[in-house]
Amino acid sequence: MHKIANKIIFFESLNSTNDYLISLYKELNLRNNFIVIADRQHKGRGRRKKKWFSNEDSLTFSFSIELKLNMNSWHLSMTVSLALVRLLSDYNIQAVIKYPNDIFFKKNKIAGILTEVISVQNRKYCIVGIGLNVNNKSFPVSLSNVTSIKKILSVSINKDSLFSGFFKHVDLIMNHNNLINDYVTYLYGFKKLIPCLYRGSFLRIKILSVDNNGFLQILTENSSIKTVRYENIHFLIN
Ligand code: BTN
Repeated sequence: MHKIANKIIFFESLNSTNDYLISLYKELNLRNNFIVIADRQHKGRGRRKKKWFSNEDSLTFSFSIELKLNMNSWHLSMTVSLALVRLLSDYNIQAVIKYPNDIFFKKNKIAGILTEVISVQNRKYCIVGIGLNVNNKSFPVSLSNVTSIKKILSVSINKDSLFSGFFKHVDLIMNHNNLINDYVTYLYGFKKLIPCLYRGSFLRIKILSVDNNGFLQILTENSSIKTVRYENIHFLIN
């Protein structure tokens, strides 16, 4: 059993594992941490109100954690990004994190993370949803720059092994306190000049650091240092 959650609920099909978990807390006033996994999602949600494509070849699950003083939703977001990159590295896939938490292999997205904070009876929970493209051979034509483990390695991978491998990495990361340093190591643009849109304008910047609340410190080409939050910056990886 994974240390972070003591109940796993499996569905063959569900609209969205994030939505299900949120409704469990809101309707039943639950207090435990849960993992919800679905073989197929019909209404998967991504960040910025986008849809998330997945099918039975994808790994889609969500877990919940009660937020306490030493753990905010940004810490969880970094933990999960790092766990996914390390999990992929176990399969010889050297992925990077596109700030804040998109997982890319070369120029293509392979996994996404959706974190949502809810309040139930004076407690705060973070619902973390993960979508990993595993054995997908193709994607809808409307989706460009996406890939899967199968497309990279040309072999099928067991989804259960990935699922338990992921939580092993999460447990390991939670037991070490080097989170920010480890996270930035895999960050696309860390100390390297990369293109981005900052408040709608094209810039080339280097990421210098990230803080405990998810603010980035960036260095622009004309040597000015800015502190930015993720709503205002969008990195261009393609
Ligand atoms: C993104 O990159 O935009 C985030 C994608 C998150 C998708 C996962 S799949 C499991 C969970 N349930 C959802 O509806 N979304 C997340």
